[in-house]
Amino acid sequence: MKHLIDPTDLTREETEEIIDLALDIIENREMYAESCKGKKLATLFYEPSTRTRLSFTAAMMELGGNVLGFSDAQSSSVSKGETVADTTKVIGCFADIIAMRHFEEGAALVSAINSRVPVINAGDGSHSHPTQTLTDLLTIRREIGRFDNITVGFCGDLRYGRTVHSLIKALSRYEGVKVVLISPEELRLPDYMKHEVCELNGMEYSEVSSMEEVMPDLDVLYMTRVQKERFHDLDEYERVKDSFILDADKMKLAAPHMRVLHPLPRVNEITVEVDADPRAAYFRQVENGKFVRMALIYSLLKWADHKDKETVLVPEGVITAGHVCANSRCISNMENVTPMFRESSDGSGILRCVYCESAVR
Ligand code: NCD
Repeated sequence: MKHLIDPTDLTREETEEIIDLALDIIENREMYAESCKGKKLATLFYEPSTRTRLSFTAAMMELGGNVLGFSDAQSSSVSKGETVADTTKVIGCFADIIAMRHFEEGAALVSAINSRVPVINAGDGSHSHPTQTLTDLLTIRREIGRFDNITVGFCGDLRYGRTVHSLIKALSRYEGVKVVLISPEELRLPDYMKHEVCELNGMEYSEVSSMEEVMPDLDVLYMTRVQKERFHDLDEYERVKDSFILDADKMKLAAPHMRVLHPLPRVNEITVEVDADPRAAYFRQVENGKFVRMALIYSLLKWADHKDKETVLVPEGVITAGHVCANSRCISNMENVTPMFRESSDGSGILRCVYCESAVR
């Protein structure tokens, strides 16, 4: 069965097939109006969401399918202590496909391992958000026209921002992509991303601490919100929350073809005056999210019917005993799941948790 838990669960070719399908859906919407008739999508959202959940819902409705689910864990059996594994087994009796958002890293993987229907990760803690990545890629394709040979600035919370982690993984598979990381010291990209994603794939990256110095070089500026809910220490949040603000003056330094993306919601990191700049693509990006989710749901259901594709959920040679994941927000430390570790791919000998990619304690 094909699931989408991590952006690399889709090959580059499959990713582009989905983006091409989304472009076809945009051109020929009526042709797809009944293509998921009789199918049901369950949206299991354990964490707040506006865009992602409603965009999944709108996507399934536009494909002629139906949607069920919950948007608040307190109104589900989770409040009685039901595990992700059990909830998944139950929902698999009602729905043909699941989209799950969870505050624990690795929750979507646990769901997929226990599921008889395709599972889509709609965000697991600060770890991954592969459908936002598809949204971002479709936006880059429509706005810039290519994925190769682009310079992308990531600004804001690169530590906890799951959309950043997933998009960098996806971009690392293209040629000539340069990544500029703009963040305060405390919110820098995690080391595993730098070593195992950027360096291993030969993707050039640099870390800077001011936007002004890099604005003229960028094709895309990916702004992000500082993820207040992920901070262990709220004083630290207060110290860094206003670090980078994009305003009209800074936009003057950017190239005419540069585009500003943001997964939204925005807090104060982009001033409202920027919205009127034609280079501000974040509201167009939202609409792309619906089209690409239509393409994804359609493809996963088709692949499940044909039984011709498999997602490797548990890599070969995992170690299941003798270690504990260092991340207190990993599902392996929260629920009764089999711990799984793999050797990190950079040859350092570090063991990484299969659920959340953190090192062992
Ligand atoms: C993002 C998320 O949930 O990670 N939002 C989204 O899905 N569009 C970004 C965020 O919450 O800051």
